[in-house]
Amino acid sequence: MVADLKSLYRIQKSDIKPAAKALTEAFRNYPLLVYKYPDESQRNKAAYYFFLVIVGYGFRWGEVYATSPQMEGVAVWYSSEHFPMRFCKMLLSVPFSALLGFPASGAARMQSAANFVEARHLQVAPARHWFLDSIGVLPQYQGQGYAGTLIRAMLARTDKERLPVFLDTMDEIDVRRYEHLGFKVVEKAAVPKTNLNNWAMLKEAQ
Ligand SMILES: CC(C)(COP(=O)(O)OP(=O)(O)OC[C@H]1O[C@@H](n2cnc3c(N)ncnc32)[C@H](O)[C@@H]1OP(=O)(O)O)[C@@H](O)C(=O)NCCC(=O)NCCS
Repeated sequence: MVADLKSLYRIQKSDIKPAAKALTEAFRNYPLLVYKYPDESQRNKAAYYFFLVIVGYGFRWGEVYATSPQMEGVAVWYSSEHFPMRFCKMLLSVPFSALLGFPASGAARMQSAANFVEARHLQVAPARHWFLDSIGVLPQYQGQGYAGTLIRAMLARTDKERLPVFLDTMDEIDVRRYEHLGFKVVEKAAVPKTNLNNWAMLKEAQ
């Protein structure tokens, strides 16, 4: 039996920071972050502000779910109507502290790769879809089905809406997981000026 979204915890405004913190911890070994920020403390700082922006944006314009208020796993979703992120929409949604901290944290170092994946997303995804912008599970909870629960609950809904779901990842390990959940690779592309690949994946509505 697949959990539905009602069985998940939809985050409140006061959860934006804890959710960004959980994603920062989950992504501590994510290839793009490790590549851009070899120094771990610099990486954590930049990633935190990066995820504050993403969670704030998803909270305002999309939907952000956690497995529980303890934030073992967090998933940020929004529809293609709100992609790509627009600066004016960011101003309306992102905590002020994130807007102030973002430049100083060095998070802008990820901008060129972010621009690249945004362009590929626009190119390969169908016009109307849901986007799984970010999903992360705290390291101590990984491999125990938390991401499967978060993703399947949303897929039950997107199937009902007859909408496809798009995601991308730069970690090859994730590709097998997402294939297992019904996604297919629609493009594998080298990320310019890095040694990384980006996999664009789509799950058609069932
Ligand atoms: C990627 C991530 C979110 C996965 O979370 P998780 O809770 O460990 O994943 P799950 O245990 O729910 O695994 C999801 C499904 O994939 C399956 N799976 C895992 N590894 C697999 C593999 N190599 N091949 C096929 N299926 C696999 C699992 O069995 C599970 O399916 P099930 O529910 O039918 O058993 C987590 O590892 C993470 O936070 N990583 C760092 C951040 C990151 O890379 N995020 C994604 C970027 S797009």
